[in-house]
Amino acid sequence: MAVIVIVGAQWGDEGKGKVVDIYTGFADIVVRYQGGNNAGHTLVVDDRKTVLHLIPSGILHSGKRCVIGNGVVLDLNVLLEETAALRAAGHFQNDSQLVISEHAHVIMPYHRSLDAAREAATGNRIGTTMRGIGPSYEDKIARRGVRVMDLYDPARLRAKIEERLAELNPYFVQHGADAFDVQAVFDEIIAHAERIKPFVSNVSVMLNEQIQKGRHVLFEGAQGTLLDIDHGTYPYVTSSNTIAGGACTGGGVGPTAITGVIGISKAYTTRVGGGPFPTELHDELGKRLREAGEEYGATTGRPRRTGWIDIVALRHAVRVNGLTGLALTKLDVLQGINEIKLCTGYKADGQVLTEFPLDSSLLERCEPVYESMAGWNQPISDIREFDDLPANTQRYVNQLESLLDIPIVLVSVGAGRPQTIVRRNPFRDERKKRDSNP
Ligand code: GDP
Ligand code: IMO
Ligand code: MG
Repeated sequence: MAVIVIVGAQWGDEGKGKVVDIYTGFADIVVRYQGGNNAGHTLVVDDRKTVLHLIPSGILHSGKRCVIGNGVVLDLNVLLEETAALRAAGHFQNDSQLVISEHAHVIMPYHRSLDAAREAATGNRIGTTMRGIGPSYEDKIARRGVRVMDLYDPARLRAKIEERLAELNPYFVQHGADAFDVQAVFDEIIAHAERIKPFVSNVSVMLNEQIQKGRHVLFEGAQGTLLDIDHGTYPYVTSSNTIAGGACTGGGVGPTAITGVIGISKAYTTRVGGGPFPTELHDELGKRLREAGEEYGATTGRPRRTGWIDIVALRHAVRVNGLTGLALTKLDVLQGINEIKLCTGYKADGQVLTEFPLDSSLLERCEPVYESMAGWNQPISDIREFDDLPANTQRYVNQLESLLDIPIVLVSVGAGRPQTIVRRNPFRDERKKRDSNP
């Protein structure tokens, strides 16, 4: 049995969708455990692009079960739109493929408005995706949220909407937005609730039973380590625990069930929205990375900020996630750059820092310390064996492995499924172990 968590090791958009799709071929169940439709996970299969915001990235494999855990915040509109689009494209033909936790919290229409009103009031300080993610998690932590199970108790649902709107409507009116009508919100939510009912169950019970039976489970993180509410660049973060530990709280499985954690990093760095980014490039090279890597948000379409790979930040990701391996994506994007830089330390206030600081104002003052490596000119997207990569490409990967002190288990050289060099596969390793110890 392998229970593997896949997490973004940077500021999101590392290629989690692609890597989860690849490993799903070997897993039985794929679970989203946090975040919501702020995520945009891209899969390119047979030249067809699918962007998933809520449904786990295993859904294109027809026999695999996809699970939305209790740690996710669920926008019912988006869920229904996404399931309909998948069905129209010939996927998700069997309802039993999707399971939704009855304990997940619901993103209500007023959460979206609150997100937008706050961003407008602060001049987009955080640069959220405006999907209502933060306000929904606020209500969860404040113990007044609407859970999926509440959708099937109309009196309780109505009371919760009434209570929340009594407090929020004056705020909306004061900020020039429309007040919400309790009955209209209630009717909209109840209509959606009936449609998702067949998928709703107790995910923790189901997952633990399946793990007991020896099934292979893949936990799919959303966002990235540096956007984690506790271990990221607070306050420029999202509102959930994006790190591997979130798989336990957001899926209802114990830490002892997890057998491995794979982090994903691009061969460079990107960030969408506000906040510190020490290795950011504001020059032509930054633009070149954006264009070559098609770095535009999969959810909001915003141009992503770009920069060199940051070893200090990645070491932090190795530590807080307990990474057992790293998947390196978008290596093809570096082709043709003569000198590739890797940030191995920061200088700030006359000192050299080797640990990633979680004080955003200190991080803003950090000057990266770089080491350089020679690049390569040959295209690599058609290469399928690590040993066939140009010598300098191999050197770059080996240097990352040595600086981070973890194995690079997968190298991605293009957006498509075949453009992948799988060096170690935790599911296959587990199967081999089982076969040799019957
Ligand atoms: P996620 O949020 O981590 O799933 O990542 P996104 O889907 O938001 O962004 C990653 C983008 O890079 C998507 O457009 C992918 O199709 C694309 N992609 C993934 N791996 C590679 C790769 O190795 N090379 C290139 N050129 N593109 C890739
Ligand atoms: P995936 O899963 C990149 C960023 C937003 C903003 C901050 C808070 O595709 O990697 P939020 O709407 O969550 O309150 O916004 O987090 N952000 C992401 N950046 N990829 C994502 O998801 C993100 N989800 C949120 O841009 O800076
Ligand atoms: Mg994304």
